[in-house]
Amino acid sequence: MPQRILLILAHPAQRRSRVNAALRAAAAELEGTTLHDLYEAYPDFMIDVDREQALLLEHDTVVFQHPLYWYSCPAILKEWLDLVLEHGFAYGRAGTKLSGKGWMTAISTGGTGHAYSPDGLNRHSIHDFLRPFEATARLCHMRWHPPFVVHGTHLLDGAALARQGAAYRQRLLALRDEPELAAAPGHR
Ligand SMILES: Cc1cc2nc3c(=O)[nH]c(=O)nc-3n(C[C@H](O)[C@H](O)[C@H](O)COP(=O)(O)O)c2cc1C
Repeated sequence: MPQRILLILAHPAQRRSRVNAALRAAAAELEGTTLHDLYEAYPDFMIDVDREQALLLEHDTVVFQHPLYWYSCPAILKEWLDLVLEHGFAYGRAGTKLSGKGWMTAISTGGTGHAYSPDGLNRHSIHDFLRPFEATARLCHMRWHPPFVVHGTHLLDGAALARQGAAYRQRLLALRDEPELAAAPGHR
């Protein structure tokens, strides 16, 4: 059964975006995928929790796409996580509504791949920086998929952006059509 994908986008300045704009374009109109731009939907940050929870229930896999900001996500996504993943809905004894759904983070980083290595500027791998999201997925009984990561955003020319867009589209297709293969081994 193809998975229904909810692609949640969080970029506060779409017009200045190169990478996330390219990824968004590559994912647009992918059958079985609902694109949901948080800054567009909630310019005043007044997140409609009921609507967001209903959207989650209608999908099998959630992709959170955003630039890495201060080693984390842009503010609206943090607000979304704080409000939407409620006790009794997403976690806690009766909070099993997201159980078995997939989670994939798709991020872009200004830092290069080397910057996210033990002897690089940031000392830790990108996987280490994503642990809070991975732990959140686990607490919500969701399946953590390996992240889609674009490093060194400022160094990418048009051809490289097109390659990243094509790779992203492939990952989304795999998530949609072969979720078992796309899941990280050992993570539930
Ligand atoms: C407020 C802010 C914080 C940022 N923090 C980080 C960071 O912690 N690590 C990093 O590698 N890049 C960081 N960057 C660079 C962005 O990740 C990069 O510009 C973005 O991924 C490019 O994607 P875009 O073309 O879609 O905007 C930051 C940029 C901004 C504006």
